[in-house]
Amino acid sequence: MNQLFIHPRLGKKAAAFLAREHKLLIGGKWLPARSGKVFDTYDPGTGRVIARVAEGDAGDIDLAVNAAREAFENGPWGRITPSDRGKMIWRLADLLEQNADEIAELEALNNGKSLSTARNSDVPLSADLFRYMAGWATKITGETLSISTPGTYHTFTVREPIGVVGQIIPWNGPLAMATWKLAPALATGCTVVLKPAEQTPLTALRLGELIQEVGIPDGVVNIVTGFGHTAGAAIAAHPGIDKVAFTGSSEVGRIIVKAAAGNLKKVSLELGGKSPVIVFPDADMSVAVPGVTQGIFANSGQVCTAGSRLFAHKKVFDRVVEGIAEQASKIRVGHGLNDGTQMGPVISQVQMERVSDYIEQGRAAGATVAAGGGRVGDEGYFLEPTILTDTNPEMSVVREEIFGPVLCAMSFDDDDLDRIAKQANDSIYGLAGSIWTRDLSTAHKMARRIRAGRIGVNVHGSTDAAIPTGGFKESGWGREKGHEGLHLYTEVKSVIVAL
Ligand code: NAI
Ligand code: MG
Repeated sequence: MNQLFIHPRLGKKAAAFLAREHKLLIGGKWLPARSGKVFDTYDPGTGRVIARVAEGDAGDIDLAVNAAREAFENGPWGRITPSDRGKMIWRLADLLEQNADEIAELEALNNGKSLSTARNSDVPLSADLFRYMAGWATKITGETLSISTPGTYHTFTVREPIGVVGQIIPWNGPLAMATWKLAPALATGCTVVLKPAEQTPLTALRLGELIQEVGIPDGVVNIVTGFGHTAGAAIAAHPGIDKVAFTGSSEVGRIIVKAAAGNLKKVSLELGGKSPVIVFPDADMSVAVPGVTQGIFANSGQVCTAGSRLFAHKKVFDRVVEGIAEQASKIRVGHGLNDGTQMGPVISQVQMERVSDYIEQGRAAGATVAAGGGRVGDEGYFLEPTILTDTNPEMSVVREEIFGPVLCAMSFDDDDLDRIAKQANDSIYGLAGSIWTRDLSTAHKMARRIRAGRIGVNVHGSTDAAIPTGGFKESGWGREKGHEGLHLYTEVKSVIVAL
């Protein structure tokens, strides 16, 4: 076995965490995988192994489901008041903040994102979402109904926790994705089996320790690290799971839907996107140019809602593209833990090759590489912020989710909003979109026409806890975050009392 690499910029606490054994959290105990297997986890900034983690599979998922079922049916969790549940979730946010430096370092190291992004965005936004959902714990209510059946009745609905939930998350925001899943499940009183992405297991495991520290009862949150085709597939198919929540590729989303059919478990999906960004000629360029740049290159483009298809009016197309290219050339690409890094590597060698292959496909189909296009350095998986022009809707780079720092730019020469919207909506996806204009009427008319779950006007997006996020079309099922997000974790029961 190779020596583990300890990055010299890691603080003591993060280094100490890496040196610990990384086991599975099942029924309140940290257990090795039943198979005894472990797998390597990497720093995508160097490609070196930073930790070894228990490789859970179907057997471990089975144990975790049993623990979650026991905690749901018989444990203290169901008797804890909503107020106390809320307090525990709130305290989890406090602990995240108290350990923010350590957790941000682990996140930056394992995912590649810059430490400042992890420290100033991922960790505080996760704390914020836990607090937002903590507040909802005491506000989960039903309705009283007036019915017309002859007789006298008292009729009402209650929202009950859906039960044992399986949650499968991706690697692009490991802590944030764990939080989006866990916070509403805990607020509603569910119990959970969480599987982090195999590329980024670390911060979810650290979160598992904090979950124990706040006194959330054993078995309420179980964390099984492992691979998708083994541990993930076992979650999707398990007859003891009432609901599965998944974020990741549309390809795997489809596999999960099929696997879930066995016991007809409820499914929510947050899948891919190819979000349009529409710049009208009257847009404030000092807002639009940096906004569009950020909308595609944040997190190295590894964001489901990334604004990856630019439509700029012919009158401003050159200005917009040149402006973005100029900003892109100034983005400091480097190791997440280096001072001043703005854009880190992509997650893996596989992803780097996948993104590079898309850029090649674009070139071969006639696209012009107006900025970037290549790899940065030869250690780690760094790619240049890239802009492709002369693209058209037939090209794979325009149709498919690249999930890397690649913007496809197209122009329109039209004032008919229906026709502009038609171009923007020419995608199997419908996750997000943004509209850049000073005209209020254009903004609202376009917001109605874009078929997507989240529309920004003069902003590409927001990660606020209160904003529901999810997709139209093949971008998914259901909405996470906000009040909507709670509904994924409750069942409605109607009670009819004949008086
Ligand atoms: P993926 O969809 O394979 O992985 C996401 C999660 O699903 C991971 O936890 C993985 O272990 C799990 N998984 C994989 N196969 C599974 C299976 N058969 N059953 C159950 N769980 C399974 O994504 P991958 O391969 O890492 O990335 C490929 C592409 O997917 C990216 O280039 C991007 O286009 C898209 N993607 C989209 C994300 C989003 O936020 N919408 C996040 C990650 C990837
Ligand atoms: Mg995959």
